[in-house]
Amino acid sequence: LLEIVLSPFSVSSEVQTLRKGLDSSPLFPHNFLFGTATSSYQCEGAYLSDGKGLNNWDVFTHKQGNILDASTGDVAADHYHRYLEDIDLMEAIGVNSYRFSISWARILPKGRFGDINWAGINHYNKLIDALLLKGIKPFVTLTHLDFPQELEERYGSWLNPQSQVDFAYYADICFKFFGDRVKHWVTFNEPNFQVVFGYRSGTYPPSRCSIPFGNCTYGDSEREPFIAAHNMILSHAAAVNIYRTKYQKKQGGSIGIVMHAFWFEPLTNSSADVLAAERAQSFTLNWFLDPVIFGRYPPEMQNILGSILPEFSVIEQRKLKNGLDFIGINHYTSYYVQDCIYSLCEPGTGTSMTEGFWRQSSEKNGVHIGEPTGLDWLNVYPRGMEKIVTYVKERYNNMPMFITENGYGMVDKPNIPIQEVIKDSKRVKYLAGHLDALIVAMRKGADVRGYFVWSLIDNFEWAVGYTSRFGLHHVDYETLKRTPRLSAIWYKNFIAEHCRTE
Ligand code: NOJ
Repeated sequence: LLEIVLSPFSVSSEVQTLRKGLDSSPLFPHNFLFGTATSSYQCEGAYLSDGKGLNNWDVFTHKQGNILDASTGDVAADHYHRYLEDIDLMEAIGVNSYRFSISWARILPKGRFGDINWAGINHYNKLIDALLLKGIKPFVTLTHLDFPQELEERYGSWLNPQSQVDFAYYADICFKFFGDRVKHWVTFNEPNFQVVFGYRSGTYPPSRCSIPFGNCTYGDSEREPFIAAHNMILSHAAAVNIYRTKYQKKQGGSIGIVMHAFWFEPLTNSSADVLAAERAQSFTLNWFLDPVIFGRYPPEMQNILGSILPEFSVIEQRKLKNGLDFIGINHYTSYYVQDCIYSLCEPGTGTSMTEGFWRQSSEKNGVHIGEPTGLDWLNVYPRGMEKIVTYVKERYNNMPMFITENGYGMVDKPNIPIQEVIKDSKRVKYLAGHLDALIVAMRKGADVRGYFVWSLIDNFEWAVGYTSRFGLHHVDYETLKRTPRLSAIWYKNFIAEHCRTE
């Protein structure tokens, strides 16, 4: 066991060379943030406590057939009540930052149409203060897939431009009450996945889809994901604008957005596949980052989608440009990408016109891109970290970056003794490999300022409920007891070796 915990698991020979080589300077800069991440709906529970309003996920999970194991986040890991215990876990690991999200409906149960819920403000005040007391910096997401149900019912959430007004109103309140102590703000978490699952496949609320599927409502298929995305992008810009004009100077913090970012490896080195991999990035990652940095959608999207893609007015373009202080990247895995413009593709992810005519696959000639984890979407390919970080560095002028999530999930196996469950050597190997690859990208010049493991504790994994476990700590959902896995101890040792907080 000791071997697992202490092993550096260096998969990358480049890092070994770096470590042994002439350059003996530290691998991470001063004040690099080493953290863990969670989100409110996935961890807090307490879904009706202290004046909280219902949100889209409260309603969605209570409808039969939406969640694989028929579970809900009603109790989840009960982080709402156990946050002090969870901060103790963080302190034991030695993290200097904690990424969490605020539950919008806890602060504004009825959005801008009702009062502030002071108990909600009070809760996050206590959480933030308790973190700071232990030297842990709060890294706060305003919405991590959650939306007050009241607003969903009033006007249909992200399909309606009114969502921009509500988001800006909510963001202003958060900056006002928490911004004296919160120095890192994130507007949206993975809006790229949220719109695809919520408005294309219908597997997330508000369950709208382009083909009838499960419980979803058949929407105006083609345009809806793009309209929802458009409103989110403008909501982001509105929140950033408020932060910059009213708060940033006084409070001295920074604000960004968090995107899910796969690495897309061309299936072959043909120029068609290379272009297809680039297109895949444009239709997933650059879809949001180009507008908030350059003030326009990626040219590939404009060319293929034409009038399906909404347009930004000249005033909006101006408001959007440079609307970020940092980019947050959630990176977990990589895929091969095949071109579907010049060659015929079997239907699959990416192949339709609205996705950009490419095909995603985790294997090539029957060989996986990396070791499988048991979760269908997650293969272990550490070099993907180096490649995606380098890609983002090059496209966006080396803007400051945080790896806001990276983590290893495994399928829950019931009735296994806890002594066995906590031996997660595969997670240790995954994290070590990805950190090595990150170091390589940083040594080549990427301005990366922090890294967060998903997740501190096991939690509710959206449509698959509690069947996937990502925690550095195991959670027994009967007793809510937390038990550190080997990966928690490994991360503690890694941080002790590399963290240099001033
Ligand atoms: C990214 C999401 O932000 C988070 O909510 C999710 O649990 C993890 N990925 C793992 O899938």
